[in-house]
This record gives sequence, structure tokens and C-alpha cells, in this order.
Amino acid sequence: MCGIIGITGDAPTLDVLLEGLARLEYRGYDSAGLALLPATAGGALWRARAATGTHSLDDLAKRVDGAPEGATTGIGHTRWATHGRPSEENAHPHVDCTGTVALVHNGIIENHYELSDALVAAGHELSSETDTEVLAHLLEEALAEAPEAGLVGAVRTMLGRVRGYFALAAVRTAEPGLIVAARRVSPLVMGVTATTALLASDIPALLGTTSEFLLLEDDQIAELRPGSVRVTDLDGVEVEPKARTVDYDLDAARKDGYDDYMSKEIHEQPAAVASTLLDRQLPDGTLALDEVRISDDELRSIDKVFIVACGSSYHAGLMAKYAIEHWARLPVEIDIASEFRYRDPVLDSHTLVIGVSQSGETVDTLQALREARRWNAKVLVISNVVDSSMTREADAVLYTRAGPEIGVAATKTHLAQITALEILALYLAQVRGTLYPAEARALLVRMGELPAKVALALERGPAVDDVARAYRDSPSFIFLGRHVGYPVALEGALKLKELSYLRAEGFPAGELKHGPIALVEPGTVVIGVATRTRLWEKMLANVAEVKSRGATVVLVANDGDDETARQADAVLWVPPTEQLFAPIVDVVPLQLFAYSMARLHGLDVDRPRNLAKVVTVE
Ligand code: F6R
Repeated sequence: MCGIIGITGDAPTLDVLLEGLARLEYRGYDSAGLALLPATAGGALWRARAATGTHSLDDLAKRVDGAPEGATTGIGHTRWATHGRPSEENAHPHVDCTGTVALVHNGIIENHYELSDALVAAGHELSSETDTEVLAHLLEEALAEAPEAGLVGAVRTMLGRVRGYFALAAVRTAEPGLIVAARRVSPLVMGVTATTALLASDIPALLGTTSEFLLLEDDQIAELRPGSVRVTDLDGVEVEPKARTVDYDLDAARKDGYDDYMSKEIHEQPAAVASTLLDRQLPDGTLALDEVRISDDELRSIDKVFIVACGSSYHAGLMAKYAIEHWARLPVEIDIASEFRYRDPVLDSHTLVIGVSQSGETVDTLQALREARRWNAKVLVISNVVDSSMTREADAVLYTRAGPEIGVAATKTHLAQITALEILALYLAQVRGTLYPAEARALLVRMGELPAKVALALERGPAVDDVARAYRDSPSFIFLGRHVGYPVALEGALKLKELSYLRAEGFPAGELKHGPIALVEPGTVVIGVATRTRLWEKMLANVAEVKSRGATVVLVANDGDDETARQADAVLWVPPTEQLFAPIVDVVPLQLFAYSMARLHGLDVDRPRNLAKVVTVE
């Protein structure tokens, strides 16, 4: 987890570093810190850190008074705590015993206990509980042993001693103007202009400084100097980094007049669905994906599909299971990514593994996909981030074109994921010939209606606010659904718990009587997804079971469905749609409900406690 940034140039870097850190804050905000190099060799390193949770960055900005005027080289960090509690001592940058080397790191050093024991035995004084600090001391040792190799040589030596994941950047007072960066698994991008070289955990952090980016790959080391970047592998052999030009709209990353990013992103959902659908249909009526390096023959030889993902992306995958099985007639297994590779899944070259990840960087999903490749399975990634680690390693990619999502809770990217997965299901059906072309075309027409239906569901926001107000004091909620309504219920519960910190559990409604119904007592609030999908009648029977035990029932129901409304104490209305597309519309009022509830409880919807937008730790 965490975000890192580094800049070396011919102009003061402080403001650019702070601005970049603000854009990286979604990766964690337990603490923030900066280190600036002196302009000439031998001067002192300047460091400031703050660990005040969501105020860390503001507080850091207030502590820059003593910063050396005009410093042109610096590194920064925003932290999501893994090893060591959120505190100033544990905040990055970390320094060595001499205070001349500073380092920022995103990732986990798995052998840090063993390394810190060795370092302490050798006389080093470690001042934090982090896994990162050992890296600064390892650099110190390497520099003492081979000073002529300089910082880049020391980083190379250090990497030979560490196990784990990292994106890191180091500076040293004896080498002003130089930042050395390295990467394994955790993301790191670089930019270079005539007078500056920059690095960060993601591209938006550097927007406005350049649109030309260089991508650092695993086990590569970069030397950044004003106006130049040199990349070598672990053996010191120079390599040409991949370059990308990025035409991002920076305004899209701002709030556009909404109170918070989440509300802006919820209201961008019709556009997110529409642009994910855009241009998918070729003139001959067939479907196209973005990057497909799997031939149609190979796709026809697929006999099993696995979907791997985490959190909301997992729920999107669960929704897609119904569509792929129904339309493409392929068996689908779905796995929580962090469990997948540890259960020895049976994979071969006839298996298609679909990774679903907004960020394309979630390490659990990334490693699950690597496991799949190890067994020669075909890997297809659904992601919102172009050139993210997962998309670079995949055989095929289908992008969700939702635009940057800043709010920690997934909303527009979730709807775009379901949309993309449904397109994929139709694509598989097309290639495998399991749907008549006319059927597929008719479904695509229905899909084209989805943005307008999502917009209609959003218009009901004020009515959803009323329902949230009515139940604001309930300490816990049960979410129920059946068939495609089941993952919708899971997503509704996840949104509510992560945003409002209330107990919320989602269950398949048919499973209730096998245990969870014991939770129901008079006054328990049960939220059910009761739109007219395949198991609607059975769903209403399950609703009757909780009502007869005194539950208060809120139902998501299709417009005008009085029969369903009669079973409910309150209704969240949505327009009806084709049943396998229903999750795209039905989840909207549950997002609005969670948002409204969090606001009623006075909570920060964009930055829920303990969470981060990109999860790059196992
Ligand atoms: C919930 C949420 C998370 C993510 C999960 C996976 O609102 O955002 O559950 O869905 O961390 O992240 P990605 O999709 O980036 O792999």
C-alpha cells in the first residue's frame, strides 16, 4: 500500500511534491512525509513527517517552514500502515544511521525481521517498527562497503538481500540531483522533461508536469537526474523502458462541484456504463474487446472459467458468473483472489482466468493471475487503469472506461466492471456460437438502454435519503438477494459497512433459514433485492419469513410493482431491465443508501477509516 513520489529538476520541488502527494492520498493517509536533498554535496538532508490520519498531508504542509529554500530534489510518501502503527516514527521517508540516506517505499519486505536482527547485531540503530527502515540501513552498509558504486550500486546490492514487494525511491546527500528507484510488483511510473525527472506510484500524481511516461518493470532500477532517466536490470545491464503518452483530463480528477468524490462518481455512473459499452459492436454486428491476444480457436477450446477478484470487484465477478454460464454455457468458478492460489486450483491451457480489478494493481489478484499463467491458463483482465500491472501481463484486456475513481469505495468502476463482464459473456457466446447472432444483438440493444436506466435510478436519490433517515439509528442491517440479486445484496452490505461502519451482512435469501435467520428479531432492518428477476417469487417468500419474525423490511423493487411494495415498510424504486443486467441498476439505490447513511453519521465518505484505494499488500 502507500503512495510514493520523487522529483529532481532545476526548480524548487516542494510544491510539486505536496501536490503529487495530495493526488496519491487515496492510496493511504495514515501519515505523510517528505525528504529534500541539499543543493550541493555535503549539505544536510531535510525531512518532515506528520501522522495525523486524514489530516496528515495538511499538517505536513504546515511543517515545511524550515525546508531548504529552492531544494530541487526530493521524495515523498503517503502511508497506509502495515508494519508498525500509524505514527510519526513509522512515517516515511526513513533514514539510515548517518542521516544522509533517505528512502520511501510501497510494498512489504517479507524478510525484514531477519534483516533487522542482522542490522542490529552489526550495530545499526533502528528507530521505527516498519519493514521499510531496514532498507535505509542496508543502503548504508552497501555504501560503506563499496562507496565507489554510489547509490545505484548500493540499491542493487540491497535488492539482492531483500524478499518481498517494493516500489522505492532513495536519495543521498553525497549525490545531489540523483534519485534511485526500483520496483518489484508494486507500481511505479516515471516521467521525464528537458529539465526534470519524476516518479510516482501512478500517472495522475504526475499529471500537469508531463504527459510522457516511462514504465519501470519488475526488478529494474532507475537513476533519475534532471532531464534524464537511465534504467538497468539487476545485473546492471541497461534496458530501454517502455514509454507511454497519456492524454488524461486532470479536471476529471477533481470534484466538479459535488461535495465529495463519491457523490460525483456515483453520478458519473451512466457515463461510465455508456463509455464502457461504446464502440464494442463491429459493423458486422460482432463484438470487439480492447486487447485480445487469445485467438478465437483458443477461446473455443476453453472448457472452464475462473474469475478472481477482491471486494466489490469480486461481487462484479459473481454477477458475471450467471451471465457467462447462461449465455456462453461455460462452467464458471469464482474465487476471492487472496484464497485462489493457495488452494491448488486445477488449471491448464484450456482454462480462462478472468481477473477483475479496478486498479489493476491489487496484489492478491495480480499474484492469482501469475499463478494462472504458471499453469498456462489464458488470462483476461478487466481493469479501469490502462497499463496497470495486470493489464500488462494479460493475454487479453477489456477496459472499463469509467475515468479515474478517487473515492475509496468503488462505485462507477463497479458498474463499469459488471458492464464489461456482461460484454465479455456475450463475446464468449459469440465466439462459441452459444447464442444466435440475433439474440446477442437484441441483448446489446437492451444493454444500450442501461445508462438511461441508471440515470433514472439516480434521480430517486432524495427518496433514498428519506429511507436512510428513517433507519439511521439501526445498529445493524441484513441484506438479502437471490440469483443475480445475491451479489447485489453482498455489494449493498459491503458499501454500508465500509462507509458507515455499521454491521451489515449480505446473504443469499434462501440460505437464511439455515442459520442467519436467528439474527432476526423485532425491529431488525432487512434490505432485500426484490426486482422481477428469475427467483422473485421465492425472494418474496423469504421476505415473508423475516417479516413474520418482526423484521422491518426495505425492498428494492421495480417501478410500479405494487405487489412487491405491499410486502415492504419502505421501497427503493428502480426501473426494470433484462434480468441478467439487473445488478447494474439494482445496486444503485444501495450505493445511495450507504452514502446517505454515512453522511447522516457525519463520516468522510471519500476516505473511510482503515481503508485505501489500492491494496498492494497480501
Ligand atoms: C469496495 C472496494 C474494494 C475493492 C477491492 C479490489 O468499495 O473498493 O473492495 O473493490 O479492494 O480493488 P481492485 O478492484 O482495485 O482490485
